[in-house]
Amino acid sequence: MGGLMERLRIRVVPIEEVKVESGDVKTFFFRDEACLSARPGQYVMVWVPGVDEVPMSLSTINRGGLSAVTVRRVGEATEELHRKGKGDLIGVRGPLGNGFDLVRGRCLLVGGGTGVAALTPLAEELLKGGAEVSFILGGRDRERLIFLERLRELLQGRGELIVTTDDGSYGLKGFASTWAARKMDEEHFDMIYTCGPELMMVEVFREAEKRGIPVQASLERIIKCGVGLCGSCAIGGFRVCVDGPVFNSEQLKSIAEEFGRTRLDASGRRIRVEK
Ligand SMILES: Cc1cc2nc3c(=O)[nH]c(=O)nc-3n(C[C@H](O)[C@H](O)[C@H](O)COP(=O)(O)OP(=O)(O)OC[C@H]3O[C@@H](n4cnc5c(N)ncnc54)[C@H](O)[C@@H]3O)c2cc1C
Ligand code: FES
Repeated sequence: MGGLMERLRIRVVPIEEVKVESGDVKTFFFRDEACLSARPGQYVMVWVPGVDEVPMSLSTINRGGLSAVTVRRVGEATEELHRKGKGDLIGVRGPLGNGFDLVRGRCLLVGGGTGVAALTPLAEELLKGGAEVSFILGGRDRERLIFLERLRELLQGRGELIVTTDDGSYGLKGFASTWAARKMDEEHFDMIYTCGPELMMVEVFREAEKRGIPVQASLERIIKCGVGLCGSCAIGGFRVCVDGPVFNSEQLKSIAEEFGRTRLDASGRRIRVEK
């Protein structure tokens, strides 16, 4: 199951189910043997026939044999994917990348935007392993919050869910990173996991560093080959596609010059990370 050659080959699979998560986010379910043994935080290259192949975190791993990616519509490939429905074909290659390291203690998960997609299977695995989970689910506004019901069900009586919106239209008002800092002051945490907008992750990392709490952050860069050859995903001395996408505190310190500051665009030019 999931041998190396199988993982690196594009498998063409039908979309089994599509779920609308918000105005510009949909989840696409598919059946693929190799993805069933993925670790939370790993991604697949999704081939949209005739358009492109794009990296997407697995947002579901083995729900009755199904896996899924949760996709924000931002450009060519994601727009075409959003036009697809049950029975349409896509390709998947992977799972790729390292995924999160699981711990058993008290964990704070901080997710913003579609970053929540990678953190939700992580929360499921952490709970199975006996960890205590507090999850901060952040979004710009109520409309952009995804997985609210799924996380409510998952964490009901087993963990804590804190919802934040930048504009206060739902839950606590303010940035997820601000509320994460407050939580770090109130309680002891053994590990902080974060995935979402890079500037949110930088803030979470800074606050955690001040308090000496280790962090694992899932970073995004332009991924093309996904196997460490082309260099388009370089950050510091690392390649996000194979050394990441999850980086620990030591690694994040070593890439401080670029993390939250600059990235390579699709043609390899260095540009500023957008706010
Ligand atoms: C490891 C990893 C996991 C990801 N997981 C998810 C996920 O779960 N859900 C999700 O919606 N998106 C995820 N992304 C981002 C996603 O891959 C991009 O949004 C997608 O490639 C855009 O393709 P497009 O053709 O629609 O857009 P394009 O037309 O190529 O570009 C539209 C905009 O998106 C930016 N963009 C393009 N590719 C990337 C990229 N790789 N990273 C960041 N910005 C990019 C471009 O600079 C441009 O501003 C992930 C990226 C990585 C690296
Ligand atoms: S995407 Fe080619 S080296 Fe990472």
